[in-house]
Amino acid sequence: GLVPDLAGRRIVISAGGTREPLDPVRYLGNRSTGLQGYALARTAVARGARVTLIAANTALPDPAGADVVRVQTAVQLREAVLKAAGEADVVVMAAAVADFRPAVYATGKIKKRDGREPDAVALVRNPDILAEVSAERARPGQLVVGFAAETDDVLANGRAKLARKGCDLLVVNEVGEDKTFGSAQNEAVVLGADGSEHPVPYGPKEALADTVWDLVTARLD
Ligand code: C5P
Repeated sequence: GLVPDLAGRRIVISAGGTREPLDPVRYLGNRSTGLQGYALARTAVARGARVTLIAANTALPDPAGADVVRVQTAVQLREAVLKAAGEADVVVMAAAVADFRPAVYATGKIKKRDGREPDAVALVRNPDILAEVSAERARPGQLVVGFAAETDDVLANGRAKLARKGCDLLVVNEVGEDKTFGSAQNEAVVLGADGSEHPVPYGPKEALADTVWDLVTARLD
């Protein structure tokens, strides 16, 4: 994008994956690397936006020109997103957020005990940040974009998820062990709350990011 069509726009992007601690050395996590969120941040900066990137457990270089806020857990991610969303024209939730976290955090390392089976790990629900941001809309006309990784019935599940979350656009990818995570490539369909459907062919995550920004600029007033 050489055209600064996002000039002056404030954009919040979450990237990476949350880690939910069990004890000081262990966590429940996921395989997200943050590559797609960082590609969104770089392309938004290139198109003139003021970007706040909220990075959960990523090991990627800070995108030039973006403000980076680092978090670990879903609860921390929620705090950071809600704070930044107050000033934002667009919020993009590209992070993989754990749906559940351990109900109890052990302040000391959990020990194995001779001859005894391990305890089950009790989980509690995390807040759904995308649904909350979509419902609240900190500013009139604020656009909210979600991501969804699906393994089957990709379009039907994506459509249902878009409605459930209440966002404006939902980027749906098919994932599997060999797909998407840690890869520089992605293939997706972007679903619009207006019923529109935009297939994005297999290609670099930057290309998908630029398609998202094209759809966003068309919907910003
Ligand atoms: O429900 P699911 O996890 O598939 O939805 C994915 C989308 O919702 C992503 O945009 C993700 O960032 C967001 N999400 C969230 N809070 C959660 C779970 C997911 O914002 N607790």
